[in-house]
Amino acid sequence: MNALGRALAARIRATGPIPLADYMAEALTHPTFGYYRRGDPLGAAGDFITSPEVSQMFGELIGFWLVEAWERLGRPDPMMLVELGPGRGTLMADALRAAKVRPDFGAAVRLHLVESSPGLRARQAAALQHAQPQWHDGWETVPGGPLLLIANEFFDALPIRQFQRTDAGWCERMVALDETGERFRWVLAPPSAAAEALLAPEQLQAAVGAIAEVSPAARGLAAAIGAGLAEAPSAALIVDYGHDRSAPGDTLQAVRRHQPADPLEDPGEADLTAHVDFAALARAARAAGAEAHGPVAQGDFLKALGIELRAERLCAHATPEQAEAIRSGLHRLIGEAEMGRLFRVLALTSPGFGPPAGFI
Ligand SMILES: C[S@@+](CC[C@H](N)C(=O)[O-])C[C@H]1O[C@@H](n2cnc3c(N)ncnc32)[C@H](O)[C@@H]1O
Repeated sequence: MNALGRALAARIRATGPIPLADYMAEALTHPTFGYYRRGDPLGAAGDFITSPEVSQMFGELIGFWLVEAWERLGRPDPMMLVELGPGRGTLMADALRAAKVRPDFGAAVRLHLVESSPGLRARQAAALQHAQPQWHDGWETVPGGPLLLIANEFFDALPIRQFQRTDAGWCERMVALDETGERFRWVLAPPSAAAEALLAPEQLQAAVGAIAEVSPAARGLAAAIGAGLAEAPSAALIVDYGHDRSAPGDTLQAVRRHQPADPLEDPGEADLTAHVDFAALARAARAAGAEAHGPVAQGDFLKALGIELRAERLCAHATPEQAEAIRSGLHRLIGEAEMGRLFRVLALTSPGFGPPAGFI
């Protein structure tokens, strides 16, 4: 067992099995041994690759989307531009470069980055120096006011709770120690009313044996963002893998060096994620006063924003090798069997905004 595993094992010995959300939070953001404290997990040499790292076109089109939203909001100045979990800063650097088509936009934005990883903050500082970002540990300290927000592959990293339906009722899946005390294993807590309070009706109808997930952290954040959108002219874009409707299913996954891993082995050494329940995010934001649009498939969203034309234009000035890379990036971002369908895009806006670009 690694150092974080030993710390979690000591806690379980002292207080008993812990909810998956606690295990996941420690594994991802423990101040010393958490996965996102280790450095840079992205790219071919890391554990996974994300859309902005696949192609510059992803961030550029989001830059155009942000400019369009800013204009429809009445060109507020100043305008908070917030990114949740900016990774290497690639998406935002590409977006701000594309947004130079409207110099007033660049002058109006105040860039705020929500990032827990010190290593990635350093990468973001290098990529976004010119935009003078301010960093935040969480959403709570981001200033209010007119706001544009982007979150790509952020919500999947927020801790989830899992429940299993048994003959006796819904029981929470907890992380315990096995009989050797050297490995983690799943156990079920006694049935409780928590599942009925937290799960959606579509999940509660599941058969005995089914697992259902909920992310109170994701819901709470969507509600807080929704409240911000209801207060001042604003728009937000959430991109992630997940499902449009709340449904039962076990989507917890661990990925290490681009390969699936056991989520209960070596906490902090693999990326732990779960599919995003977009319906739950939309419900939470609407209840807080915002409008929700979509979700739509990433491929459809990017095509509606003109990614194919953008690729053609880039290819026109590219070497044959560069053109090949542009075409392969395009295919990866919009291909049905690649990121085009699994990844979904949800927009949240102030009331009265109507469908944003890419959602019409
Ligand atoms: C999967 S990466 C996505 C990076 C980037 N958006 C991209 O598309 O390349 C998740 C990002 O969210 C950050 N992150 C994860 N959990 C976080 C949390 N609880 N608070 C703040 N940042 C977090 C990570 O450090 C990382 O920057």
